[in-house]
Amino acid sequence: MTAPETYDQAEREVAALIDGLDDPIAAMASCASVLHERLPQASWTGFYRVVAPRLLRVGPYQGPPACLEIAFERGVCGTVASGGEPLVVPDVHAFEGHVVCDPQSRSEIVVPVFDPAGSLVAVLDIDSHQPSAFDDSDRAGLERITALLTPCFAS
Ligand code: SME
Repeated sequence: MTAPETYDQAEREVAALIDGLDDPIAAMASCASVLHERLPQASWTGFYRVVAPRLLRVGPYQGPPACLEIAFERGVCGTVASGGEPLVVPDVHAFEGHVVCDPQSRSEIVVPVFDPAGSLVAVLDIDSHQPSAFDDSDRAGLERITALLTPCFAS
């Protein structure tokens, strides 16, 4: 549940930071930093990258150390990676197969990131210690912001 103005501002900041950038790691790092600074409910903000067929590995993030690798279909991140659609999870304990990186985590949102050809290259994961910390307006805001990253993944 984040005010739309927060995403307007975050979108402007990310756009300015990554303008013309052809380095996806620098783009993801900048994006994770902006979002973690802007979203007070976020306990962990970062990316898992597709590094092999059906395998995610942690990328740039802010917050405590997290699981290094997640297979497609495992947990929230793996479910989004295999389905290609964002997921808002108001209660992680109710999500079958949730991957526990931080036992204090209560809710999360995961949004896919695509390259210019439309292939999945990463997922953006934001976790919170608060229950129901994200809703559909967060999904919409984060989809706008992840779309800004797409050109940075041009090879
Ligand atoms: N909870 C996630 C795993 C990633 S971490 O929380 C940083 C999941 O179930 O995919």
